[in-house]
Amino acid sequence: MTLPSKMSALIQCHDGYASGGDRDMPKDLTGLVELAEVPLPEVGPGQALVKVARAAVNPSDLMFVAGLYGQPRVKGAPAGFEGVGEVVAGDTPLLGQRVSFFGSGSGTWAEYALTDAKQMIPLRPDLKDEDAAGLIVNPMTAMAMFGIARKDGAESFLFTAGGSQLGKFMIGLGKDHGLAPIPVVRRAEQVEDLRALGAAEVLVTSQDDFKEKAAEVIKARGPRVLLDAVADQISADLFFAMPKGARWITYGRLATKPPVLREMGQFIFMDKRIEGFWLSQWMREAGVEKLGKAVTDVQARFATGAWSTDISATLPLNEALETSAQALAVKDAKLLIAP
Ligand SMILES: NC(=O)c1ccc[n+]([C@@H]2O[C@H](COP(=O)([O-])OP(=O)(O)OC[C@H]3O[C@@H](n4cnc5c(N)ncnc54)[C@H](OP(=O)(O)O)[C@@H]3O)[C@@H](O)[C@H]2O)c1
Repeated sequence: MTLPSKMSALIQCHDGYASGGDRDMPKDLTGLVELAEVPLPEVGPGQALVKVARAAVNPSDLMFVAGLYGQPRVKGAPAGFEGVGEVVAGDTPLLGQRVSFFGSGSGTWAEYALTDAKQMIPLRPDLKDEDAAGLIVNPMTAMAMFGIARKDGAESFLFTAGGSQLGKFMIGLGKDHGLAPIPVVRRAEQVEDLRALGAAEVLVTSQDDFKEKAAEVIKARGPRVLLDAVADQISADLFFAMPKGARWITYGRLATKPPVLREMGQFIFMDKRIEGFWLSQWMREAGVEKLGKAVTDVQARFATGAWSTDISATLPLNEALETSAQALAVKDAKLLIAP
């Protein structure tokens, strides 16, 4: 295949981390990335080049381009953590195949992206590009964290941002494996849909009786794991209301104001723990067998319809800046980029 010397990409407007100012999740991409013609990335040893079909826009991408993620930005480099596409160059047996992948050194919001040749995921033919575009970040995290909840041995588990894509994936896993999922959400209008997906209970933080309802559900069902993407005072209060041995696993910080921890004695006398979860770290430590099983299971869930990706819009690169605000404002659905 003859490759072009240049490509279109949404490149980062800033270097490093944000200093002070707004710590909130950006509501559109303006001022954070810009459309540009850039040289086609050069494939180095151990790398492959993928022609991108679809790329996901996840909260981690938004936090990253805003300088609020755990890695520094690189001005001028294409943004975008994950995507799906065809392998077009590199020293790999997967040349010509469709893969899901993480961009490494050159992001996925571009016509072409570089990736680590050893970490590409060859795809089942019956997997849709819409699901394969975001096959790694949320699905693999859901698998990994559900594994943690399952190992704990309790019969239920609690999780915040319960209507997020990740939350919906965890509801499906809980339902299918007999572990009662208890999502926590802000909006009452999500309750019915989450119940229909298989939530055993849904706790709504905006309702007046939230505290009482939460105490009642915790007493009745005894969850010992709180998977938390929000990290606010409500998360802390839920954790301190949980039984002996409870673990608060924080994997996102959607809230801008951190919580106050008022019950430090529980760490001493009730064997409680706060931990963090980051998929990158989990993947480094998981080992080939565990990773391979998770990848197979994730693909099977999408292919059989046990999971699906709700999409707000699929935007070409040249429309992404203009329309990202509208697409990102849609609740409970993902924005995809189609270079
Ligand atoms: N640590 C890791 O390795 C890892 C990996 C994957 C994902 N994550 C994290 O997982 C989370 C979910 O990702 P996703 O892609 O599934 O999200 P998503 O589908 O974009 O949904 C975001 C959800 O967060 C809720 N939310 C936003 N701000 C909130 C706040 N201040 N308080 C309560 N709820 C809030 C939204 O609720 P409303 O509908 O009410 O606005 C929405 O349901 C993100 O924080 C992401 O960074 C972490």
